[in-house]
Amino acid sequence: MSPFHHDSMVAEPVSEIPANNLDLLCRYSELDPDWGEAIWHPDGQMAIFRTPWNDLHLTTQRCPSTGANVMARGILGDATIDGQRVETIACPLHKEVYRLDTGANLAGTGASLAVYDVRVVGDWLYLGPRR
Ligand code: FES
Repeated sequence: MSPFHHDSMVAEPVSEIPANNLDLLCRYSELDPDWGEAIWHPDGQMAIFRTPWNDLHLTTQRCPSTGANVMARGILGDATIDGQRVETIACPLHKEVYRLDTGANLAGTGASLAVYDVRVVGDWLYLGPRR
């Protein structure tokens, strides 16, 4: 079940949430592999991805192409760039493809997707600085 399902949110004991939670995103164990989740944050909507290779990536939910808040429903994939495998996310609307490590638009013509570091503290994931 998704960690963002209403019942699991209600069942979450408040005492388990760390006191300094302004940048708290979610728990790693709540993320399904090969899937993205939308997360509300005071600075704006975010999208977090646990890839098929169990890597974590955090981006803004907003696609730079049109401003639509859709990136968490994007399609995870990878590409080979300069001989190296790079994980990617394709926007679900018009299929612009972005690198998840830098946010660069693979077509090289559009704006970049904002990407952020994820700070890991035990099972808790926090918003880190923008890359
Ligand atoms: S809204 Fe993302 S590519 Fe068009």
